[in-house]
Amino acid sequence: MQHFASDNYAGICPEALQALLAANDGHAPAYGDDEWTRRVSDRIRELFATDCDVYFVFNGTAANSLALASLCQSYHSVICHEVAHVETDECGGPEFFSNGSKLLLAKGEGGKLTPEAVLEVIARRNDIHYPKPRVVTLTQATEVGTIYQASEIAAISGLAHQHGLRVHMDGARFANAVATLGVAPGDLTWRAGVDVLCFGGTKMGLPVGEAVVFFDRKLSEDFAWRCKQAGQLASKMRFLSASWLGMLEGDVWLRYARHANAMAQRLAHGLTDIPGVSLQFPVEANGVFAILPPLAQEGLRARGWRFYTFIGTGGARFMCAWDTTPASVDRLLMDLRELAA
Ligand SMILES: Cc1ncc(COP(=O)(O)O)c(C=O)c1O
Repeated sequence: MQHFASDNYAGICPEALQALLAANDGHAPAYGDDEWTRRVSDRIRELFATDCDVYFVFNGTAANSLALASLCQSYHSVICHEVAHVETDECGGPEFFSNGSKLLLAKGEGGKLTPEAVLEVIARRNDIHYPKPRVVTLTQATEVGTIYQASEIAAISGLAHQHGLRVHMDGARFANAVATLGVAPGDLTWRAGVDVLCFGGTKMGLPVGEAVVFFDRKLSEDFAWRCKQAGQLASKMRFLSASWLGMLEGDVWLRYARHANAMAQRLAHGLTDIPGVSLQFPVEANGVFAILPPLAQEGLRARGWRFYTFIGTGGARFMCAWDTTPASVDRLLMDLRELAA
């Protein structure tokens, strides 16, 4: 049975696994000084068409926390959406690793910040008693399955930079956003003013790991030490980096992201004609959020389906992954139709 609780329930995609196995040949220098890590970093620079600085860490919480910490002093603050993963699901990691930089919450439709919402937070206070805003963080695709257009990112970044703030992007599902928008990765990041991207690998189909991509190399000066201190410097780094090669080769990552997005569309379309069920947000990436009758929720769980209801604003979240099959989507829909009836 395939599950919809999270896109990280899925296994490793064959291309990433193949690249991982290929890296398991003989000895290689440790701590990132290996050929695999160098090749993937170069490949990521090619992908973004810029000379960025690339680091590999084990998970998204570490990527976000350490990236944000590298942009802040402890007396600074980070502006984020009120449902941002950094606020709701990282157990205070960003505050911990930055020695106390405070998250300042902003509202926005569909899980998205706007320049107005960010400006409201910036302008709220500027006295010595308040943590000075230093970073804006955007999630692409958002926690509720919507996406920012390049122009929306550029508008927020422009405002942020104008006020001396840096821009961080939580790209746990960056692949899904690129797949939907069909634009160059550089257009959604550095060309739109993003300073640091946490490029999600796990949810794309890698075994583990995210890449932290600094478009402004000055910001990554001490990042390697920060990773080491936080326990995020893999000694056998090649096994964190090599699987990216299989994923990036021939745009495998985009093919899988398009597939996951298409499965979300299939699910969303199927849900719209089930009585008592409504979609909460536009379905723009690989996640579907729906309000279900409570009995239908219980019934789905009793039939073995797993999904979360604590993410976003309280609906049921169904995530599609690189390997979600149309048959699994249809089985879920069939069960829900029966239960709703
Ligand atoms: C928006 C977002 N950011 C980051 C992460 C990464 O979190 P983790 O530390 O579980 O890899 C997730 C995972 O669910 C996420 O949904």
